[in-house]
Amino acid sequence: MLLVYLLLSYFTASATGFFYQDIDITWGDGRAKILNNGELLTLSLDKASGSGFQSKNDYLFGLFNIQIKLVPGNSAGTVTTYYLSSQGSNHDEIDFEFLGNLSGDPNIVHTNIYTQGKGNREQQFYLWFDPTKDFHNYTILWNPLHIVFYVDGTPIREFKNAESSTGVPYPKRQPMKIYGTIWDAEDWATRGGLVKTDWTQAPFTASYENYKADACMWSSGSSSSSCASSSSSKNYTWMYQDMDSSSQSRLKWVQKNYMVYNYCTDTKRFPRGLPPECSLNKTA
Ligand SMILES: *[C@@H]1O[C@H](CO)[C@@H](O)[C@H](O)[C@H]1NC(C)=O
Ligand SMILES: *[C@@H]1O[C@H](CO)[C@@H](O)[C@H](O)[C@H]1NC(C)=O
Repeated sequence: MLLVYLLLSYFTASATGFFYQDIDITWGDGRAKILNNGELLTLSLDKASGSGFQSKNDYLFGLFNIQIKLVPGNSAGTVTTYYLSSQGSNHDEIDFEFLGNLSGDPNIVHTNIYTQGKGNREQQFYLWFDPTKDFHNYTILWNPLHIVFYVDGTPIREFKNAESSTGVPYPKRQPMKIYGTIWDAEDWATRGGLVKTDWTQAPFTASYENYKADACMWSSGSSSSSCASSSSSKNYTWMYQDMDSSSQSRLKWVQKNYMVYNYCTDTKRFPRGLPPECSLNKTA
């Protein structure tokens, strides 16, 4: 019996494509919709409510890709998200948040990482394309070495596992689900809150497609991961994926040309010294 159970859980670690299979709509009272036989998911926001979804499964490490087309036109004040999070007060979280803007003004990709309930690790970027015109790939790589945020395959941010050298906790014990949401954040999202949401433009709609989790599925019944056996984890090249030199130079290119904010250079905010992980995640 135990053997059968383990084999089953080793088996089913890749979720691909179809929102019906892998995703539950969790809030928004009809404002979130799964369309095109499960290939497309739209999230809408109006004055009464936003909306959101989450994965059916929990994961401990993985490569999580989704394509998103952000809210077109005047999206000032809105925030569209794609993130991983565990539960509880000491939770871990890996965030992609897309801050809306007036028509023609640039969106900001806001990233953050919480470990053991502590965040305050924001980095923000402009993009090198208009993310409201087409679908683009947004990918989170989360393995025991590091967390990497990618946009269309280009790394924009790396957070290394520096637990043993700095004592900064690294997310590696708490399984996480994937979430997507749209909500109103007019008090801070656009130009720091100066530009408010224009509700005459509602509903604001973001579209998601091609969700793919190449990931270690967590089975809460057995408290084990689908990658627990060494033979199965060999199939996951992402599990050992580090930055090669070409990724590193692309990361530098993004950070040099498109970075808007980096907590690791904000000495005003951290007058008693920058967070310890900052010295290890230096790029520019
Ligand atoms: C997104 O990823 C898919 C699958 O790897 C690829 O076919 C597509 O060209 C990518 N799109 C962009 C805009 O990079
Ligand atoms: C919105 O546009 C303004 C003006 O170009 C810019 O300063 C700001 O960074 C943009 N993005 C957000 C999310 O505020």
